[in-house]
Amino acid sequence: MAYTLKINGESKSLDVDGDMPLLWAIRDIVGMTGTKFGCGVAQSGACTIYVDGSPTRSCQFRVEDADGVEITTNEGLSGKVASTVQKVCTEMDVPQCGYCQSGQVMAAVALLTENKKPTDSDIDDTLAGNLCRCATYHRIRAGIHEAARQLEAYDMLFSQNNPLKAGGIQADRRQFLVGSAAATGGLLIGFGSPGPVADAATKAATPNPFHAYVQIGSDNKVTIFSSLMDRGQGAYHGLATLVIEELGADWSQIHVTGAAGNAKLYGNLMWGGAAQGTGGSTSTAGSFDRYRIAGAAAREMLVQSAAKSWGVPAEDIKVAKGKISHASGKSASFGELASAAAKLPVPQNVALKKPEEWTEIGDTKRRRFDTAPKTNGTHTFTIDVKLPGMLTTVVAHGPTFGAKVKSFDAAEVISLE
Ligand code: FES
Ligand code: FES
Repeated sequence: MAYTLKINGESKSLDVDGDMPLLWAIRDIVGMTGTKFGCGVAQSGACTIYVDGSPTRSCQFRVEDADGVEITTNEGLSGKVASTVQKVCTEMDVPQCGYCQSGQVMAAVALLTENKKPTDSDIDDTLAGNLCRCATYHRIRAGIHEAARQLEAYDMLFSQNNPLKAGGIQADRRQFLVGSAAATGGLLIGFGSPGPVADAATKAATPNPFHAYVQIGSDNKVTIFSSLMDRGQGAYHGLATLVIEELGADWSQIHVTGAAGNAKLYGNLMWGGAAQGTGGSTSTAGSFDRYRIAGAAAREMLVQSAAKSWGVPAEDIKVAKGKISHASGKSASFGELASAAAKLPVPQNVALKKPEEWTEIGDTKRRRFDTAPKTNGTHTFTIDVKLPGMLTTVVAHGPTFGAKVKSFDAAEVISLE
């Protein structure tokens, strides 16, 4: 049946069963994945949205009941309370894996809208239904208190007609190929165009060893292939820090993605290199030299390429914040030099920075690059990935606790190929 839902101020037409949970409709039909599936039985709060301004578990709200109501999801949050909560969560690195954050932020914004100065128990009571697998409750609570403090200060400024009121507080919504491998004992670097080669590096059963660690596209994007899993521990941020330190890239260029499974390329050196894996606090120690060398080798190739093209000595070229420059005024982005650099020989020995030269490693003021998208619903989790022809399996829950299966016909499932 056809329904028209009003989501974040826009009308969306859907042709679905009326008893479909609103969560499914929002995520799978409309394609807005900022709202998460946590449990499907009103126990996790991951699916929290607002219905006519009130926090509501979208897994328990039917599409047919949503006709004519105003629906707000995390992506549609606006106003100073929401932007302050998202800003504070980012500045304080509140999330760990971030999966619960969408629901936590929705609940926190609703709380602070009603109660400008919540106590610990107000927070605990209101967010009791928003579960966090990573147990970041103390950080969530601290974040809400900090947001309350900032909003109070904002209100004071506003009430005194301070010029700041015009600007308000805004949430920050911003959000070649170099590959390397230790396959032959030395480090190999390659460059190329973005897209297909990156796909090849991550999807091929035997990834191209030239594209294993770092890729720089002609679009100036730097993609880092992580040999490690990141469930919120910060491994992706850590590897990015190592590469940026030596490469001289800017954080705005960085994208980290999971690498293919291949122990030859990605074996954990803290475990002897024979197996690829994440655990035992080995991520940084096992990657420290490997990813720095990859960044340094890529930088060296970019510099050599610039020196050749500009006719200047390589020693006089500087690389910083994603820009390659020379005192003569010549400069280029990484993307502009990527394909020329790809044709140069890969340096087998590169000098790494000394600890006293580090600007990124050990910078305690640097916040994790993946925190902001976790608080504003734009971070892509596995459940958000859609592939052509992909089917989704859903576990049917009993309508009551203790319910038992009366009958089950497996024929249709078994016939699937
Ligand atoms: S998915 Fe709705 S409360 Fe868990
Ligand atoms: S589930 Fe809350 S941060 Fe991971």
